[in-house]
Amino acid sequence: MAKKYDRLNRPLTDLRISVTDRCNLRCAYCMPADSNPCFLSKEKLLSVREIERAVSAMYAFEIEKVRITGGEPCLRTDLPDIIKVIRNIGIQDIALTTNGILLEDKLPRLKAAGLRRLNISLDALDDALFQKITGMNISNQVVLSSIFAAERLGFEVKINMVVIRGQNEREILPMVEFFKEKGIQLRFIEYMDAGCMNDWKMEKVVSKKEIYDFISRFYDLQPVTQKTYGEVAKRYMYTDNGSQVGFISSVTEAFCSSCTRARLSSNGIFYNCLFAESGLDISKVLKYGSIQEIRDQISAYWTQRADRYSEERNPLVSRKKIEMSYIGG
Ligand code: GTP
Ligand code: 5AD
Ligand code: SF4
Ligand code: SF4
Repeated sequence: MAKKYDRLNRPLTDLRISVTDRCNLRCAYCMPADSNPCFLSKEKLLSVREIERAVSAMYAFEIEKVRITGGEPCLRTDLPDIIKVIRNIGIQDIALTTNGILLEDKLPRLKAAGLRRLNISLDALDDALFQKITGMNISNQVVLSSIFAAERLGFEVKINMVVIRGQNEREILPMVEFFKEKGIQLRFIEYMDAGCMNDWKMEKVVSKKEIYDFISRFYDLQPVTQKTYGEVAKRYMYTDNGSQVGFISSVTEAFCSSCTRARLSSNGIFYNCLFAESGLDISKVLKYGSIQEIRDQISAYWTQRADRYSEERNPLVSRKKIEMSYIGG
């Protein structure tokens, strides 16, 4: 068995699995508090066995990394079992993207199951602003406490901050100073035109360049060489203390040409792109087919892939867009 390449010669090396489309927060840029999300019924969600079969099928393509996303993955009580079956297949790099609210108590079990890396969302240190953005009366102290607990347990932790003009730009410097001092990598994410529930406008995007230039007024930054092919964040080091900061510039500097990521939604639809309008329904074959059948279907679908949405982005063309909370960010 060998790597699978698409029509643009991009190998399938990363799988992102959304394990639930539900969330305990209502972030303004994803699932705003005044939106009316329509969630999948519980019996539609992939079971641990189906997730195991999907990863087993793709293991033959030499996938290197599996990231668990959502919605909020910590809402699933069987999350440690999901991690365990993926680890037992032989995947070394297993990561989780979470909002950190329900994380702290679960950390020891997740560690024991084989989880190594955590990306935790935090858009503001100012608690009132945090609660405004997340649409819930839950303090960011809960998230910070999870972050420090994860660090103490030896997880590799990164912080994701989506910057929206008029909303949280004033948090850029406090966040930089806080996480620089702690030696934790903060990543600034450009606000993307994902889904149909947020009120995305190009004017609300704070570009990587703007943020970089602003930080450079206070701290000297030096580029860091990429660790792996297709890494989404451009990383820099603060020259005064060696901490790192990253930028995910999917709007102003798209990275589709090296995109190696496939996505599996929580009801078993395989997507070639975060912005795909449709995907391949493998829910039935995950339940009833052989591993070889699953492999063949995915292989055929990836081989004809030519998606490069962010490089072609044209906000004037209206498209049916899938919600981030469903496809898994
Ligand atoms: P690591 O680099 O392995 O830590 O993971 P990651 O940065 O891919 O994962 P994470 O879930 O933290 O993603 C951070 C942000 O990057 C999210 O807002 C994602 O939606 C965005 N992102 C990740 N992959 C893609 C992609 O393929 N396309 C686009 N447009 N955005 C992506
Ligand atoms: N634009 C950019 N990032 C987003 N996320 C969710 N919605 C958007 C959006 N519209 C981010 C979250 C989380 C990651 C999985 O996706 O902040 O860190
Ligand atoms: Fe939930 Fe993440 Fe969406 Fe916020 S961005 S509503 S935490 S899924
Ligand atoms: Fe990959 Fe699609 Fe994102 Fe481009 S827009 S980097 S092809 S997921």
